[in-house]
Amino acid sequence: MANDHDNEICNKSDNRPFNQVLETNISRRKLLKGGLATAATTFLAGQSVNATSYKKYGYKPKNLVNFEPVAIADGSGPWPNISSDYQWDVLIPWGEPIVPGGPAFNYPPNSRDQAKQIGIGHDGMHYFPIKSLRKRRYGWDNYNDWDDNKDWHHNMHKYRRRYGNSHGLLCINHEFGRNSHIFGKGVSSNGDENQPESLEEVRTSQHAHGVSVVEIKERYGKWRQVKSKYARRIHVNTPVAFSGPVAKSDLLGDLKKRPPQGTVNNCANGFTPWGTYLTCEENFNGYFGATNSSWTPTEEQERYGFDDDGFNYGWEKFDPRFDLSNPDYKYEDNRFGWVVEIDPMNPYRKAVKRTALGRVKHEGIALTVGRGGRVVGYMGDDQRFDYIYKFVSAYNWKKMRRRGYSPLDYGKLYVARFNDDGTGDWLELTIKNPEIAKRFKSQAEVLTYARIAADIVGATPMDRPEWTTVAPNGNVYVTLTNNSNRTEPNAANPEAPNSDGHIICFKDSYKHVGRKFKWEIFILASGTRGTEDVFTDPDGLMADPDGRLLIQTDGGQPDSLNNQMLVADIKTGDLRRLFTGVSGDEITGITMTPDRRTMFINTQHPGNGDPARTNFPAPTDGITRPRDATIVITRKNGGIVGS
Ligand code: FEO
Ligand code: CA
Ligand code: CA
Ligand code: CA
Repeated sequence: MANDHDNEICNKSDNRPFNQVLETNISRRKLLKGGLATAATTFLAGQSVNATSYKKYGYKPKNLVNFEPVAIADGSGPWPNISSDYQWDVLIPWGEPIVPGGPAFNYPPNSRDQAKQIGIGHDGMHYFPIKSLRKRRYGWDNYNDWDDNKDWHHNMHKYRRRYGNSHGLLCINHEFGRNSHIFGKGVSSNGDENQPESLEEVRTSQHAHGVSVVEIKERYGKWRQVKSKYARRIHVNTPVAFSGPVAKSDLLGDLKKRPPQGTVNNCANGFTPWGTYLTCEENFNGYFGATNSSWTPTEEQERYGFDDDGFNYGWEKFDPRFDLSNPDYKYEDNRFGWVVEIDPMNPYRKAVKRTALGRVKHEGIALTVGRGGRVVGYMGDDQRFDYIYKFVSAYNWKKMRRRGYSPLDYGKLYVARFNDDGTGDWLELTIKNPEIAKRFKSQAEVLTYARIAADIVGATPMDRPEWTTVAPNGNVYVTLTNNSNRTEPNAANPEAPNSDGHIICFKDSYKHVGRKFKWEIFILASGTRGTEDVFTDPDGLMADPDGRLLIQTDGGQPDSLNNQMLVADIKTGDLRRLFTGVSGDEITGITMTPDRRTMFINTQHPGNGDPARTNFPAPTDGITRPRDATIVITRKNGGIVGS
């Protein structure tokens, strides 16, 4: 944010001109087609050299990534492993009360308790520092505190001298928990999970989804939950509000007659300069079904993946709200698929669905401040062949807020087209576009069916866009986790099929608000195969202020590795494994204290809920149901996490 490097490209590891880098990418593509899949990736060419010299000479190279990596041989089994320079601890497993003294975890849970307990499926999260205990002033309560010319870390760092590094609020997403995990329900012969047998079970499942806000404190190196008036659960039945262009349309049904409720499949997240949390609704279609066999999806419903049995949660059998064939709940499906804003400092304020950001399967959002003080959000729509989006607020965010407007309610929504020559275009999704106007009647329709509008303007279908992150120099990184269905490669998605995934990087014009960008591939995960730092299926992602990229994985890893978190030095391409999870889990969610001495990540669906694989965080006994949990990571020497 601080620097205006509009002409820079993403990775200057070897200072080659952009064209040359791209040519290399293309020739690698040819190599891949020819079957030489072990060719080194363009950007990580130096990586194996660093790793070798470290081992050979016993000293640590002077770069950003200086820890002893977790070896492949150590990265499997029922228990996490971490670099010998680091340590980990467990916080807020699924089912813990959201305040100490609340209903204790009992397996299987009941719906009443679950509404006051930590949900399941820990995913995106953000730590909000508490800046002054005495005055009970929390976070960025005065939005003028935020300096648009500084990155998030420098803005957060102001609170270091106060209490923000040892006391804060953690907002955490609970993406999903399968019936087999929550209730221990078996799987029937056709592979489907057995469904709930009562409304009580449906409510329990619904209360396990959503978001938790908890207050946490560190003392003598140990983090724990504390009593809190801010702690709350927002789940599938919690009252919520709508805002932005779609809120006043009839596409959401009658909001007065049937007030909107809940958020679901909260995947990754973002946060705003004004101190609020953004939670993103991803696979919302999977919670709907149809009890009437004559129901058929509309064209719009089909584009969003609705069908008569969803992901087999079976909610529609006992809760008509999720029954697509129930005419009383027409448009309920349109009430999900949004970016949702939560004010962690005000527990009485409803979560607000910000419709100007469009309705897609939102993985997450990386918000930054662009030219003119406009907020800019980068968002992935995680589906094979879906798109990358960008939202730009209409005006300077501080001025908008001073006048009582949300910067997330007024602005333009764009979708990305990646040209094969390394340039890209942001295509605006607006009813003013005659092609779009042929299909839709209003901007509200364009936003509600953003995927279809994006199809019309010719966006580039990507290999499952997951997390987005903005580095301090303005580069934007996006994980493309994999795409087993790709048959036609293009420059931005060069592998077909793309079984290992890749990370793409782009540099936006006009300090994030322009309509053109330059892009290149940061890393093809297939290029790490055969090395000690192998990974596939990149998903969670965070660029830190020093130029590290923290990469988390979600997918079957090579060499029997569990899912993992690695750290890359963006400049040198050095790559190391910091952490591996437990059998059957996914590593996701990432946030830090302002001083970056404490990092929080999550193990999601450990053992896929199967106690035979892991009992984490309980000691291995083969019986105890594994629980999703937050992992607290610190460096043994008290240094910055990632270093
Ligand atoms: Fe919820 Fe695309 O991961
Ligand atoms: Ca994900
Ligand atoms: Ca994923
Ligand atoms: Ca997941």
